Amino acid sequence: MVHKPEKLILAIETSCDETAAAVLRFQDSKAWPRLHTLSSVVRSQIALHAKMGGVVPEAAARAHVKNILPVTEKALKDGGIPLERIDLIAVTYGPGLIPSLIVGVEFAKALALASRKPVLPVNHMAGHLYSPLAKIESLQLKPKDIFPQIALIVSGGHTLLVLMQNEKRYKVLGSTVDDAAGEAFDKVAKLLSLPYPGGPEVSRLAAHGQASIEFPRPMLHQKNYDFSFSGLKTAVLYHVRDRGPKLSPREKQDICASFQNAAVDVLVQKTLRAAKEFRAKSVALSGGVSANTLLRHMLAAECKKNKLEFFVPEFKLCTDNAEMIGIAAGFMLHNGKKPVKPKVVRAMPGLNL
Ligand code: KG4
Ligand code: ZN
Repeated sequence: MVHKPEKLILAIETSCDETAAAVLRFQDSKAWPRLHTLSSVVRSQIALHAKMGGVVPEAAARAHVKNILPVTEKALKDGGIPLERIDLIAVTYGPGLIPSLIVGVEFAKALALASRKPVLPVNHMAGHLYSPLAKIESLQLKPKDIFPQIALIVSGGHTLLVLMQNEKRYKVLGSTVDDAAGEAFDKVAKLLSLPYPGGPEVSRLAAHGQASIEFPRPMLHQKNYDFSFSGLKTAVLYHVRDRGPKLSPREKQDICASFQNAAVDVLVQKTLRAAKEFRAKSVALSGGVSANTLLRHMLAAECKKNKLEFFVPEFKLCTDNAEMIGIAAGFMLHNGKKPVKPKVVRAMPGLNL
């Protein structure tokens, strides 16, 4: 096995409402990048946005400005790595909220210029995509054991079904035609007057409820890999309206359980259908909604039944963080991607994989 020299990566993520930095050690090997996380710091803005019931882009950007330096200093300190020893700075360039992205990108560029280091711009969705493979090097699996792989990325902004032909080549098979999966969880939470962020709250209430309401499973039987969640959300809206303004805690739990069942059912069935069609060897789940226990369990069970390897990140890698940006950077280096001069890097808002 040929070992290239190791590199120390400082990763920065500010695409939405988490200010995050991480330090990772990267070492290449023939089959996989070997990645070791030395530190990961995530400063959430939940308290700030909870007051408004959702993310306010300008407030998010201001909070990033305040937090980015202390968060980065903490990541370097926790990792025991002074800035001089960092070999490259990986930064999320998009997609995301442009005022938020600009803070991270310009900070990374300034730091890189001042310390004469190159920058590796990383797509936020690639961060989610590679996050389930963080520990792959330690699993004794060869690329032929896991590829082709079907990757389901479910976050607050995106729902993507991706065919990974290998660790380098991937193709988006389908995406949401309206709301993203996480967005639907958040909107249902709002309809039920649950606190922000809604996803974890809906999932917490669902655990105590009965999935007794038959909500629709949009696009389940359509012969494509797209998703739609806005009809499901509207069905919940009508149900809540019909029940009148005062819902009992029990009714709320049942609505959450029924909604969650419908959403998870569509996600799992479409993922498995793609896995069969493309003769996948494995399935990977990532993004904020991959923290959902029912989704993790259902997809794991279906994969087991169908003899597919199943990869899902640890909880700390599900919602936004900089560690996954460092992991994606490691795969990009492994795939031959070269870091660039800071001045050519730009934040970009609406860029899918
Ligand atoms: O990946 P992420 O942190 O941010 C984006 O890139 O969008 O995803 C955040 C989304 C939010 O919509 C949040 O409600 C959802 O992930 N989420 C969950 C759970 N935890 C977070 N949705 C369902 N169940 C959960 N346990
Ligand atoms: Zn994300």
